[in-house]
Amino acid sequence: NGEHRCAFVIFGASGDLAARKLLPALFELHLRGALHPETALVGFSRRDWSDDTFRERARAALQEHAPKSFDEAAWAELAPRLSFVSGGYDDAEAYQKLKEHLQNLGQDNRLFYTSTPPSTYAPIAERLGEAGMARSAGWVRLIVEKPFGHDLRSARMLNETLLKHFREEQIYRMDHYLAKETAQNIAALRFANALFEPTWNSQYVDHIQVTMAEPMGMEGRGGFYDEVGVIRDVIQNHLLQLVALTATEPPARYDAKSVRDEKVKVFQAMACSNPQHAVIGQYRGDGRVKGYREEEGVDPRSRQGTYAALELRIDNWRWAGVPFFVRSGKRLRAKSSEIVIVYKRPPHIPFELRAPVQHDRIVLRLQPNEGISLRFNAKKPGQGISLSRASMDFYYDKEFRSRNPDAYETLLEDAMMGDATLFMRADEVEAQWRVVTPLLEAWEASYDEPAFYDVGSWGPDEANDLLAKRGRTWHTPA
Ligand code: BG6
Repeated sequence: NGEHRCAFVIFGASGDLAARKLLPALFELHLRGALHPETALVGFSRRDWSDDTFRERARAALQEHAPKSFDEAAWAELAPRLSFVSGGYDDAEAYQKLKEHLQNLGQDNRLFYTSTPPSTYAPIAERLGEAGMARSAGWVRLIVEKPFGHDLRSARMLNETLLKHFREEQIYRMDHYLAKETAQNIAALRFANALFEPTWNSQYVDHIQVTMAEPMGMEGRGGFYDEVGVIRDVIQNHLLQLVALTATEPPARYDAKSVRDEKVKVFQAMACSNPQHAVIGQYRGDGRVKGYREEEGVDPRSRQGTYAALELRIDNWRWAGVPFFVRSGKRLRAKSSEIVIVYKRPPHIPFELRAPVQHDRIVLRLQPNEGISLRFNAKKPGQGISLSRASMDFYYDKEFRSRNPDAYETLLEDAMMGDATLFMRADEVEAQWRVVTPLLEAWEASYDEPAFYDVGSWGPDEANDLLAKRGRTWHTPA
């Protein structure tokens, strides 16, 4: 059913994610005509709000979080399509109220979004199922936010609960990194060009690095984060997905089944090399900026990692022997998400050089300065051959004048269209948990203190040692 008109129900409509991401994304879709004129936006939460309160709050959220696109006339069109149902996420009666509300709206196509605490995902699915809302005369889809489970066991249980009431094709598991334009461009670069793919393997690639660095600290999420930590927050999902996009075989077709089949194969071949050698770090304060243990909601003796660096391997024909170094952290020097393909040195150098030639690199920048750079060796002008580093750079914003849609915009639109390519399948999330489980277990079984690092650095020294031991160094984001 390609019909994208629907009732879009946001569980947790009064929360932060709805204000920062969902409402602005829906508004952008409305502005560019991608939200069907009859699509209704229904807020649901424990707050005792009226339709009008929801409208006022939504308007304030748009003005705060999407000030550049906010437009009075467009808002005046959208506002009457907002309505609100108040109730608890586990309260069967509230779901009856919601059901009637949706019937009155006359929308048979329904999209439910869990923008709520993770502990509510299962109850929401169950109450929807029990109220008969997992089926309707039109289509019904359920978008489940991350984190998907706390470990392999809980992820399996969550999948089981969801699948009791919904079919897999109805379930859209979020990982917003997949919808970043530059993450999608990895497939375009690899599979729409003849130039790169022939060298994209262990014969030519020395190793691959994936970095996701953030300057932000807890931003009021300390209580949540202290339960989760960096591995569960971003490595199990965002970083492993980036590794998979970089490593997968070409799918036969670019559709939800083929793309996800190929990624699952990568996860099945993936393992953490020496989980006990992974570096788990934590930022310490500098008097001006709070350290992690001083953040609100964080246990002052917490061992939780706000940084991790680790080595993955992918035991298959293409990648055997090629290390994938992955790192992510909070309160680092700058915001940067990038993938670096580091090539082997050429087999023979005919020039007399003072130092060994540097490795060619392809840098895929997800953010900021979205684009791709190729770093290689070139001859310096002048007599004889001496080498210097040169670069060929492609910047998205220079090449394409059009606006880069936010990942949430892409994902909400895809879910309304019924395209699950950029969402995760049940077996995929479980395979991802399998990869990080030994890492979590090794850390949780140890009594080590995390490796402390300074706010505004690139992480703990131990992370440099991790690569130095393997004869490599981290690429410094530009
Ligand atoms: C979220 C994590 O999934 O991704 C956050 O929970 C993190 O901790 C965020 O800050 C980063 O997303 P982006 O799109 O800003 O890189």
